[in-house]
This record gives sequence, structure tokens and C-alpha cells, in this order.
Amino acid sequence: MMKPAPRETILSLFSQTPGGFVSGERISAELGVSRTAVWKHIRSLRQAGYQIEAIPSRGYKLAKAPDVLMPESIQAGLGCRLVGSRVRCFDETDSTNLQACRLGDEGEVDGLVVIADRQSSGKGRMGRQWESPAGVNLYASILLRPSILPFEAPKLTFLSAVAVCRAINNCTGLQPTVKWPNDILLDGAKVAGLLNEMSSETDQVHYVVLGIGVNLNMHVDQFPADLRYPATSLAIMTRQPVSRLDFTRTLLQEIDVLYQIFLEQGSVPIMSAWTDLCDMTGKPVMVDCNEVQIEGTMTGLAEDGALLVRTKTGKIETVYAGDVRPASRGSQCFSS
Ligand code: BTN
Repeated sequence: MMKPAPRETILSLFSQTPGGFVSGERISAELGVSRTAVWKHIRSLRQAGYQIEAIPSRGYKLAKAPDVLMPESIQAGLGCRLVGSRVRCFDETDSTNLQACRLGDEGEVDGLVVIADRQSSGKGRMGRQWESPAGVNLYASILLRPSILPFEAPKLTFLSAVAVCRAINNCTGLQPTVKWPNDILLDGAKVAGLLNEMSSETDQVHYVVLGIGVNLNMHVDQFPADLRYPATSLAIMTRQPVSRLDFTRTLLQEIDVLYQIFLEQGSVPIMSAWTDLCDMTGKPVMVDCNEVQIEGTMTGLAEDGALLVRTKTGKIETVYAGDVRPASRGSQCFSS
């Protein structure tokens, strides 16, 4: 395991003493550097936007952290077993998924997290674009190297979905729902989208990238006028800003826990948690799959993650790709 950077160690000490002072002596001992060097690290944290109080007899206290996504603030005291073992943050990139794939090809470690403040070509499902303005949302991709067969990789989308719902609930108290295959909704409006990508051979996965975009503080005016679906952000729903840093850390912790469950117990507990979050199960749905429309009742998920729909004739249709919507109010919710 790589030794944490000095700034990360200092932030970790602050996170272990919330609201309290950490003595210069303790920091100097933890880092194995002089008190002058400690002061220089504190100065560089202040330059990065951290408000740090200093009282000679007591030490240093973190008064306020900036809501900027930086590796050291994300990693400090994160407590994950794997996810976030390495974090790379970009002010701007084309797409965090593309970055993670490039880094995956170069041999980057299992658990790497790639985050961007802004994406110039954020990728959505089915070749669509993901709106990615600066300073407001979370755009993250997590590189995982599970020993699974390629057909099992799509199941990890359900893992991301459950983790995002749990993080939203932890940070806001709101209870999102999931929409097959990879949308997260609040009151029927999309708040987060997931796009997993994979590099594999026929019988071996090299890596999977979990791409996650969550609308955290996006304002109504920042959504494109021609969106195909209703969209929202956590700040719109709660009427208050959400800390990007707190949300990101919570999300990574949730993914880490669920990924351990996936590795140890398989996908069944994950799919079952996803099904509990889906309010369309047992209800009438309409599925648009290319040129074909399937109408029926959503009965649940197949073992491989496909959507199961029972049609009027009683036949169970297995859907591998498409857009699903409630049959009763579909035309109000979606335009083509
Ligand atoms: C969708 O619902 O269409 C999927 C959207 C996925 C967006 C995220 S943002 C982070 C990651 N990088 C990308 O380019 N896309 C995913």
C-alpha cells in the first residue's frame, strides 16, 4: 500500500478529531517531519481553500473544507478496503469513463477512482451525451478488476445503482427509486445515470469501469431544454446545496461495501437490493426496444439482469436493452 501524501495524513487526523484541535507535535510525529515542515503543509492546505485555525498552545483545527474534489480530501479517513485505493481528479477531461479505460489499459490499480470537475464529452447511454457542467455535480468512474466472466459484468450496474441510492439517502434523507437498467429517479425525474464499460476477452475480464454521474447542485437553468426525460438534482429536491465531497466519500464507501458483498456472495444480494428500490415491479410498463414496443407487467429481473415483462397473453418477454416507463403515464413523461 502506498504511503499517504502529507496533506492527506493531516486531513485524516482532522477527520479523526471532528471540530477539535490536532497538535503540531502529533502531526509532526505522524509525518516524521519537523514542525516547520508541518507549518508548510498547513500553509499549502490553506492555499487550496481549507480554513485552518492555529492556536499556539493547542495546535490546528479544520474550520472549513472547500467543496473541491481532490484526492487527499476524498481519501482522508475514507476507510474503504479497495475503492479509492488511488484517486485521480481532473479539472476537465473528455469523459471520466474514457480516462479510466485509458488508465486501465495502462495497468492502473484495482479500485482506482477517476473524477472530473467538468467533462467535455460526458458519455450517456446509447451514444447520448451526459450534460457535465463544472463545479456542481459528480462525474466519477471506478476501475475494478474482478475475476468474473464477461457475461457477469453487466450485473455491476445494479451495484452502482444501489450504492447511488444509498448515498443519496444518507446525504439527504431522500429515498430514490431505480429504473431499469441504469437510471436513478427522485419523484420520477432522473437524478443520476450509470454507464458501465468493460475490457475483456471471451473468457476473461481485464477490467470494468463503473461510470456514475449524479446531479448534485445543478440548477434548473443548467439542464438542456431538449432533454428526453424529466431531470432533477439533489439541490433542487432539497432546496439546499449538497457537499460534493461528502457525497463522493459516502458513495465510494457504499460501493466498497457492496463490491465486497458481490465478490464474496455473488450478485443475488445486490439484485435483491435493487429490486427493493424499484417501484415498477408488479406494475404496467411499456418498453421501447429499437423499433419494437412491449407492453405488459414488469415481473422483475432475470438472473443475468435482463428485464422480465409479462404481456397480456401471459408470455414472459426477456428484455436486454431498451427504455422502460410506466405504461399509464408514459406519454407525459417522455418525448422521443
Ligand atoms: C445515462 O444515464 O445515460 C448514463 C450517464 C452516465 C454519466 C457518467 S458521468 C461519469 C461517467 N463518465 C462518462 O462519460 N459517463 C459517466
